[in-house]
Amino acid sequence: MLDIITYGNETLTKKAEPVTEFGPELAAFIEELYEAMKRGRGIGLAAPQVDRLVRVFVTGVDGDKLRAFVNPEIVLTSPEEVDYEEGCLSLPGLYTMVKRPETIKIQAQNEKGRPFVLEASGLLARVLLHENDHLNGVLFIDRLNAAKREKALAQYLRKVRM
Ligand code: NI
Repeated sequence: MLDIITYGNETLTKKAEPVTEFGPELAAFIEELYEAMKRGRGIGLAAPQVDRLVRVFVTGVDGDKLRAFVNPEIVLTSPEEVDYEEGCLSLPGLYTMVKRPETIKIQAQNEKGRPFVLEASGLLARVLLHENDHLNGVLFIDRLNAAKREKALAQYLRKVRM
């Protein structure tokens, strides 16, 4: 069973390494990621959040199938941005508005190493951008301006200390 690490753990600020081996170990790890995501009632989970610095994340947005992304690259983002409330299993209980591109194109490999391209908009695009950020050591609060980030962080820290 994979444990989800939270804000303050150094791993969450580090850049993850590309996956080079596509075998049963990777497939098993992805299954465990799905389970940890569902257990946490999240709609996305990235490997660094379970203390593994590899470029893998999964999504499970309502009404969409479970998806796994290995070595993903965001290849296109729309100039239009939208504001939407975001949360993260590594900052439990904190929700704040974050501005992100409305439509994106992502290229990645599946658990067998087969490449694919996906165009997404709305909530799925948002989750993909959020999870992809985790692979680069970036949290959703890092997408806020300095004042808003500080406020959100103070709110989170007050909550976890209670
Ligand atoms: Ni997150």
